[in-house]
Amino acid sequence: MTLQVSQRGIEQFQDNRFGMFIHWGLYSILAKEEWVMHTDSIPVKEYEKLAPQFNPTEFNANEWVSIAVDAGQKYMVITSRHHDGFSMYDTQLSDYKVTNTPFGRDPLQELADACAKRGDIKLGFYSSLLDWHHPAYRFREESGLAWEDYVAFLHGQVRELCTNYGDLACMWFDGDWPHHALNDDNEYFRAGGSFEYDTLYDMIHTLQPDAVVLNNRHEVPLPGEDIQGFEQDLPGDNTTGFNPTAVTDYPLEVCMTINDHWGYSADDHNVKSTRHLVHLLIKSVGVGANYLLNVGPTALGEIVPEHANRLRSVGQWLNDNGESVYGTRSGIVPPTSEIASTRKNDTHYIHLLDYKSDEVTLSNLPQSISKANLLTTGEEIEIKGSDDKTVLIVPEAQRDAINTVIVLS
Ligand code: GLC
Repeated sequence: MTLQVSQRGIEQFQDNRFGMFIHWGLYSILAKEEWVMHTDSIPVKEYEKLAPQFNPTEFNANEWVSIAVDAGQKYMVITSRHHDGFSMYDTQLSDYKVTNTPFGRDPLQELADACAKRGDIKLGFYSSLLDWHHPAYRFREESGLAWEDYVAFLHGQVRELCTNYGDLACMWFDGDWPHHALNDDNEYFRAGGSFEYDTLYDMIHTLQPDAVVLNNRHEVPLPGEDIQGFEQDLPGDNTTGFNPTAVTDYPLEVCMTINDHWGYSADDHNVKSTRHLVHLLIKSVGVGANYLLNVGPTALGEIVPEHANRLRSVGQWLNDNGESVYGTRSGIVPPTSEIASTRKNDTHYIHLLDYKSDEVTLSNLPQSISKANLLTTGEEIEIKGSDDKTVLIVPEAQRDAINTVIVLS
């Protein structure tokens, strides 16, 4: 049997529309993104020396949660274990974990508590399928362990995450890459067998009936996967080369970085502008996708001010315009670089992203639409109609510098 997320869970997930992704781990100390163990060819024994250095004295779960809430984000997805194999929670299945560092605390528990206390934001977990540290993943010959030992570890960790941290928004998997080229020693990435997804997904859906399962495989979802995900691209685009798969009818999620990296990268100050971030959110929501926006906190546990401030300014725009985002589904107007649309039942929201001319022509709107108003002020917008074309007159003076939302009714 393959279970799915509950109807309530999938609707809640889609209603949330905007989430915070967090990549945080030992790699944050080196400040060169989460792949540094691989890119700098750091041997396991060397990399392990980071654990006794991990002491994020600035970490404050309530503060992270309040940044997300101020940004208008309704869920958070944090790395419970990334490819480096270090568990950022108090797992009973490995000693290679955050509670065995000078920090000694379980940040995932603290985030779960902070989210529960707020009540308006949910927590979800990223889990890496591959593991550059676990002997049963990487060193089966030397360790005498079998692939099954790794699968038991992976499933056991997911059971812990789905049991000990309250109601989750999602379980988010990464690192399957069935077509990933092997590197020279033919070992580094190679899974030794199946991850036994059927059993894994059934377990999640049994323990957490309202949590969605997403696997960042860049392919059509398998049974038990509730969401189709896109990485660093809007659905249908493939600027990265990661996203060749056609957009399906599954609920969608786009994940993107706020700058150019997932894990903390000291040299990366290429933070996307507020306007650009709002446009990416709206372009996602306009095609029915959630937007999961990543930050990589520092080793001290800080979401850097340049990211926090940017998030808060996205939240300011959402404060005035959130009605056109939360709880909506993809709209009636096919998205272009200038326009996106969302809808909630019979209410249609037209998002004017870029100003080209006072006149905005829309095709094939439902006949019943006769009124257009600015969302923020209620001001009436002139409509001219003929046959299958509707023209909205929205002079530049009425435009919002970021995105002008028009309500059609
Ligand atoms: C890619 C990266 C990985 C990151 C993920 C987030 O798969 O390899 O490091 O966690 O994207 O979507």
